Amino acid sequence: MGFNSLNDVLQEQLEDLHSAETQLVGALPKMAQAAHHEPLREAFQHHLDETREHVSRVEEALGELGVGHPTEVCKWMQGLIAEGEEMIQMGGDPMASDAALIAAAQRVEHYEIAAYGTARQLADDCGFDAIRDLMDQTLDEESQADKLLTKIATGGMFKAGVNQQAAS
Ligand SMILES: [Fe+2]
Repeated sequence: MGFNSLNDVLQEQLEDLHSAETQLVGALPKMAQAAHHEPLREAFQHHLDETREHVSRVEEALGELGVGHPTEVCKWMQGLIAEGEEMIQMGGDPMASDAALIAAAQRVEHYEIAAYGTARQLADDCGFDAIRDLMDQTLDEESQADKLLTKIATGGMFKAGVNQQAAS
């Protein structure tokens, strides 16, 4: 059965997001554990708390559509997390491996920003104002998480690492 309405697409997108966020709840503790730079570790831990809330919001949104048990598996997120795990396993220099973790994490955030942007617009088009508002809340937190990662990456962390190397 294909998509017969925007409503169907919204439901599919929400089920996909539910899977994506649930997978992230499992992956973020590993990212936090692997981070060397304390602000980066804290950013991952803080986003883990937010991500648990994102799962709840998606469940609430699915509830609005009468979907109790989403079954879809988000293969995009499986791939993104597999890439992140590869970064963790590579290890190496603390500063460099943190940069690789940020590279993986920002791909995740951008995936989510795209997905929530789509979901909030579909909800708006279909007249589900409550779902749109839930999606907007999460979209804002994903954007903040992405901005924080950029701030950490550009706030002297890498430069300090290079200086340390130069001094040794
Ligand atoms: Fe999220």
